[in-house]
Amino acid sequence: MIRSRRDFLRSLSIVTATGAAAIHWPAENISGRLPREPARASDGFILLNSNENPYGPSLRVANAIRAATGRVNRYAFMKNDEVTERIANHHRVKPEQLLFGCGSTEILRVAACAFLGNTKKLIQALPTFEALEDYAKSVGSEVTRVPINRNYSYDLEAMLSHADGSAGLVYVCNPNNPTGSLTSRKDLEDFIRKLPATTRVVIDEAYHDYVVPTGSYSSFIDHPLDDERVIVTRTFSKVYGLAGLRLGYAVASPKAIEKMRPFLTRDSLNSIVAEIVGVALEDGAGVQEAVKRNREDMQEFLNRAGTRNLSPIDPHANFVMMNIQHPAPEVIEHFRQHKILIGRFFPSMSGYIRVSLGTPQEMQAFWQIWNLLPWSNKVMHH
Ligand SMILES: Cc1ncc(COP(=O)(O)O)c(C=O)c1O
Repeated sequence: MIRSRRDFLRSLSIVTATGAAAIHWPAENISGRLPREPARASDGFILLNSNENPYGPSLRVANAIRAATGRVNRYAFMKNDEVTERIANHHRVKPEQLLFGCGSTEILRVAACAFLGNTKKLIQALPTFEALEDYAKSVGSEVTRVPINRNYSYDLEAMLSHADGSAGLVYVCNPNNPTGSLTSRKDLEDFIRKLPATTRVVIDEAYHDYVVPTGSYSSFIDHPLDDERVIVTRTFSKVYGLAGLRLGYAVASPKAIEKMRPFLTRDSLNSIVAEIVGVALEDGAGVQEAVKRNREDMQEFLNRAGTRNLSPIDPHANFVMMNIQHPAPEVIEHFRQHKILIGRFFPSMSGYIRVSLGTPQEMQAFWQIWNLLPWSNKVMHH
């Protein structure tokens, strides 16, 4: 079967040159981190709005990116199989269980195309990450949004009550964006078991690496269920600091992968990420460093919030959702006027703001602007 241009060329017996030597820049150019924008970017904004890694990629990955820039005039399709194999090997799954795309957003899109449509509905929590919902609507699906419960976990019983034969997909974002909260593994397993046989489940693990290991959480890639209906998504946009290079993927049954594959954008693999994905996956120390830094920054945030009587939802990712007991749009606007972008408005949590963690310098600026809110020292938590 021809799944890529590489397969096509092979089928014509044309020899393909994979892994062509990357251009290596002189040493003085490849030391140090990638130049990051200063705390205030050229337009003056501090970005605490998209749950990115504010430090950028690890040093090893940054160096690999510099070395890979010599290939940007080339399509990367000859690397399709290699990228698939590298990610599959990393997770100890078969290449047939792996599908990568232009960010995990593309995976969510192809899942909507493959498993939804005007006779199939999507069930998800409210609030959650909205990309799949938007794609579901664009293919004509009805979307059922089930409010999260009082402790910010998914109300799986209520979600189950909506899961009849017309439920094509259930979306589970764990940790959930925007709440940063976890839904327990055991509850999810019971839930999945009770779903109709024709209902698939997308488990979005974009923030997996940030979860401090607890008894109640485990990844559905690391500890898979023997269930063909489960599709797990991950991304290089968060802990790896590569949001702008756009690479995400799904791990699922070969059957589910084959249903999604026809909807992928052709040749979406970018030639820099194709060169550096192996380095990123092998750089366990880089991931650990990013996780540790996030943990320290989070602790600092919680300390500062605590001194102001703010009590954020117990965070399990690289952002914080907190009750500010004032209309969020006004606070979002206050920060915007002071050139800080925080997370968007979530109407179902109208008195909460979502703040992505930035560098210490950026967070210093955040708290300075917070202190300018006329009521900032009067927020009491209940
Ligand atoms: C839960 C979740 N899933 C998926 C994505 C999409 O990420 P990407 O397309 O960069 O992989 C995001 C981005 O913020 C997210 O929060």
